[in-house]
Amino acid sequence: MTLKRPTTKPKSPNFSSGPCAKRPGWRLDALKGAWLGRSHRAAGGKAKLGEVIARSRALLGLPDDYRLGIVPASDTGAVEMALWSLLGARGVDLLAWESFGQGWVTDAAKQLKLNDMRTLSADYGKLPDLALVDRGRDVVFTWNGTTSGVRVPDGGWIADNRGSLTICDATSAVFAMDLPWGKLDVVTWSWQKVLGGEAAHGMLVLSPRAVERLESYRPPWPLPKIFRLTKDGKLNEGIFRGETINTPSMLCVEDALDGLGWAEEIGGLPALIARSADNLAAVADWVAARDWVDFLAEDPATRSCTSICLKIVDPWFAALAPDAQSAAAKRLAALVEEAGAGYDLGSYRDAPPGLRLWGGATVERGDLAAVLPWLDWAFETVKQGA
Ligand SMILES: Cc1ncc(COP(=O)(O)O)c(C=O)c1O
Repeated sequence: MTLKRPTTKPKSPNFSSGPCAKRPGWRLDALKGAWLGRSHRAAGGKAKLGEVIARSRALLGLPDDYRLGIVPASDTGAVEMALWSLLGARGVDLLAWESFGQGWVTDAAKQLKLNDMRTLSADYGKLPDLALVDRGRDVVFTWNGTTSGVRVPDGGWIADNRGSLTICDATSAVFAMDLPWGKLDVVTWSWQKVLGGEAAHGMLVLSPRAVERLESYRPPWPLPKIFRLTKDGKLNEGIFRGETINTPSMLCVEDALDGLGWAEEIGGLPALIARSADNLAAVADWVAARDWVDFLAEDPATRSCTSICLKIVDPWFAALAPDAQSAAAKRLAALVEEAGAGYDLGSYRDAPPGLRLWGGATVERGDLAAVLPWLDWAFETVKQGA
């Protein structure tokens, strides 16, 4: 392959898997209507928070009997509040195939010290055997493993008539993939992902079955104030109307509304999903025509359309020691970054050395197509300089 340096750069070189690219055309003045310097509990502030909830529900087509609330501490806060509030009532299966899923296993084992837990795990690039999940037990899983680019293909493995709860960290899937709401009892995400919002606020969906658990089960461990979803044994309904537990950033709220407005304008959920699928297709076409790079996800049905993770399969690279592989992959990403052609392309710190490109809806297909020749150039530059 030649070492010819590409001449065209993406209009937006932002491909981070979080915080993700702002929507096309975003400018700081999108926030000029923010409810600033006033109480979030005053009517105007509460209305903005309520609007985020109502417009997210409508965009996603949440079932009428599901609740959606804004909670502290981004996606991590939303997941942990669910784990701390709900687990322990029955046995639980935890699925882990990359760093974030593994983090929830650590919480259950080392912090909550659950007695009856099973971990179903798989290496980077693979999924655990979903058929092993026991319908009588709760299950905790990520819909899309952001650090391996492996997603569950669908919800067919989840029983409809289960008595247990499904707790799903869907932060890099919501607004990019179809989610079978009826199969999911708890779903979480953060604004910083597919709609390109700001971090620090979490969204929490609860099914009626999850509410029933909350109102009938009291975990044996203490619950910090920011995890408390019930008051005197009853669901704190205010959280699901925008009466947040603690103070939110109304600047972030305005930005979340801007992202929702953009999503509505371009055609709602189907358009968001189509943009992300198109982005994956652009990368897949490029990968198919190269022999130095491949998807980390082994099964095409599990390839993420948001966190698109790639491994380097060139024999030169495969023959390097692990440290040298890591250094070479970092150098590759750094060359593209130094050229201003693509930022934050390195794989996650716990993942195998490689590349990761965000393909969520805020990324333009043309920008992804424009960064790919830079990866060819950077790979060849690193290889020839080795
Ligand atoms: C699957 C998954 N879970 C949890 C997190 C943590 O999200 P946050 O930093 O918004 O809490 C991330 C962030 O990338 C993620 O991808």
